[in-house]
Amino acid sequence: MQKSKIKIVVGNWKMYPRTFAEAEAIVGKLKGLTKKIRRVKIVVCPPTLFIASVGAVIRSASITVGAQNAFVFDEGAYTGETSPAALKSSGATHLIVGHSERRALGEDDRFVARKIVAGAKSGLTVILCVGETTRDDAGAYFTEVGSELRASLSGFPKSLIKRLVIAYEPIWAIGASALRAAEPEDFREMSVFIRRNLVDMLGKRAGLTVPVLYGGSVDERNAGGFLNEGGADGLLVGRASLDPKKFSAIISAAADCS
Ligand code: PGA
Repeated sequence: MQKSKIKIVVGNWKMYPRTFAEAEAIVGKLKGLTKKIRRVKIVVCPPTLFIASVGAVIRSASITVGAQNAFVFDEGAYTGETSPAALKSSGATHLIVGHSERRALGEDDRFVARKIVAGAKSGLTVILCVGETTRDDAGAYFTEVGSELRASLSGFPKSLIKRLVIAYEPIWAIGASALRAAEPEDFREMSVFIRRNLVDMLGKRAGLTVPVLYGGSVDERNAGGFLNEGGADGLLVGRASLDPKKFSAIISAAADCS
């Protein structure tokens, strides 16, 4: 199966850190530590308010900034929402959509589906997160991920597949309370399943070319396994992306197999 050659490593900072000074320090160190790294697409997704300023600190061809959320319209009377067009204009290149932590706040597949289309139409590369809540012996989690993927992509036009990335993030593997990370083999079989669904929905080209990332308790020790044995096109990293040393080690692992 053809894979995207350049790996993508995305840091999801969630609602950390509290201040721009801290964000600046993290990204400044990361910039230094990744200076020599080639052939990896590095995306840092800080809290929305820091996107423009973090982007200004980075100013580097190999690191870009992304957003963790956006609304479904580019402008309008929607108090407190963030427009995909404004994100693009602030320097964002990527947009995470449908993260399980947002779904837990009430976002359903229909809303996620609208967000993906709006983000991609505004010129952002959208990273659609999918993943099951728990694993069972009978394999019902495939049905869960399949229906989430299909519902979230309903309405996504084929013409925008270049702006689509999928991140498989099993919910049981995310965050400080996670049981553990998944195994590379868990990722491999799920990515084959995801690609089969992409072919059905968006055609053969989508199935072959849309990058499929792994996310959930990725650290500097397990990153290589997901990329090599798991065949991941990249990684979506939470906690470890706030530690420049750990994050740059993960990025190096991606560079080694690009
Ligand atoms: P984690 O988060 O790496 O801290 O498990 C991943 C994510 O939520 O995207």
